[in-house]
Amino acid sequence: MLCDGRMVCGCADPYGKRPLGDAVIDTVSAIWTGSTASSLRSDINGGGSRFCGDCPLKLPLKKEDAPPQRGLDVGGLPSRLYIECTAACNISCAQACCAPETGITRTRQAGMLDFEVFRRVIDEAGPSLVRVDFFNYGETFLHKRAIEMCEYIKTHFPHIYLYTSTNGLAFKDHDQVRRLVCSGIDEVTFSIDGATPGSYAKYRQRGDFGKAIANLRAAAAAKRAAGRDVPFINWRYILFTHNDSPDEMSLAQAMADEIGVDRLCWELTDHPEDMFSRRFLPGTEALSAIRHQVWDANNLGNAIPGATPRAEIAVQGPLPGLPVLARRGGKATVRASIRNASTRPFPAQASYGRRLVRLGAQLCGPDGTVINRDYERTWLPDTLQPGAAVSVPVTITAPAIPGRYALKFDLVSEGIDWFEACGSPTTTKTLIVI
Ligand SMILES: C[S@@+](CC[C@H](N)C(=O)[O-])C[C@H]1O[C@@H](n2cnc3c(N)ncnc32)[C@H](O)[C@@H]1O
Ligand code: SF4
Repeated sequence: MLCDGRMVCGCADPYGKRPLGDAVIDTVSAIWTGSTASSLRSDINGGGSRFCGDCPLKLPLKKEDAPPQRGLDVGGLPSRLYIECTAACNISCAQACCAPETGITRTRQAGMLDFEVFRRVIDEAGPSLVRVDFFNYGETFLHKRAIEMCEYIKTHFPHIYLYTSTNGLAFKDHDQVRRLVCSGIDEVTFSIDGATPGSYAKYRQRGDFGKAIANLRAAAAAKRAAGRDVPFINWRYILFTHNDSPDEMSLAQAMADEIGVDRLCWELTDHPEDMFSRRFLPGTEALSAIRHQVWDANNLGNAIPGATPRAEIAVQGPLPGLPVLARRGGKATVRASIRNASTRPFPAQASYGRRLVRLGAQLCGPDGTVINRDYERTWLPDTLQPGAAVSVPVTITAPAIPGRYALKFDLVSEGIDWFEACGSPTTTKTLIVI
């Protein structure tokens, strides 16, 4: 939802050129199931839609390829929504389409989202929404009621995963930062591209590095003081030629650790053309060295030294050294020893049921192909502290079809990612079903 209430295809339409409807005059369900959205879905299944115009996400189909088919039964309401509080910004990122001097605000209203429109949309769509991305173009927290909106969402629909990205520069004082932290919001990203004022301001023009860092620090401190496990606080650092030196990146790592943010991640970009980092181009050793710390590579990797989740898992079957044997549909119990080999605890419980860590057993074929990723789950009895180990029994229900299988054991941060995605080793045990 753009700040004027029009609904578009998420961040793919910064200029609001292809509205699906208008939440000021229509219900969300009328827009979601209306003729524009419905024809778009069926046209795309048919190979393309004129509605898409010059959308940069459009990819040509190869002559021999049939258009990929998606189900047309999409229910009455969406499960995910971006909410743009405003398209206005207090700084001016170099050549960004949202920069006030050159960008989208020259072609559409940058004003503030009407609170009543917001409330109507959330009241209607809240029950079906799984996630709200509370940002789009512009700086969300320039809206005077943005924090109240976060509180509204999490008070009325605590099941919604609420996420925002901010430049961290619009908070009037640290009380506002504390209020956001205590709103129940699940995840907050601070966009801070640099570890020194000079390099930071080359992209974040007119940005105040000291203020952004002070607000990041206030957020981390507020979370600690409140004893909360949410929000998860990210420092997201876009790599450019002017901020990608080993010294500056090491400085950011040390600062992130000292401030106590949950995650520091590098973002690789391809724009602006004259700024994006050349040090980390695909295929380089430098990229390989940080591959688990890149924002889009996985959801857990962390550039703070030691903070990337890493576990050592050893699994012992009923007969030491032999495969696990079970009758089809029968039970077998193995014992797993898990050691936390990172510098961050593995939480056994979490607010709203996300980011708690459990042991998962994935059912695989004999060649390792995953048959069922979510085959079994085992809870950790307690938060597993850095360096600590625990031993847990895992009961497995054998598949109905006899044969040779493999069980792959890995930890999973629920709702986020498997540890394997950020390089943590897994353990495999053969399962023979008779
Ligand atoms: C358009 S901004 C809006 C939110 C907020 N104003 C901010 O800067 O975080 C949304 C996201 O785009 C990212 N972004 C900005 N410039 C980018 C670039 N050149 N390449 C990749 N991502 C960029 C920001 O870091 C942010 O996470
Ligand atoms: S701070 Fe965010 S909204 Fe503002 S110009 Fe930069 S990327 Fe765009």
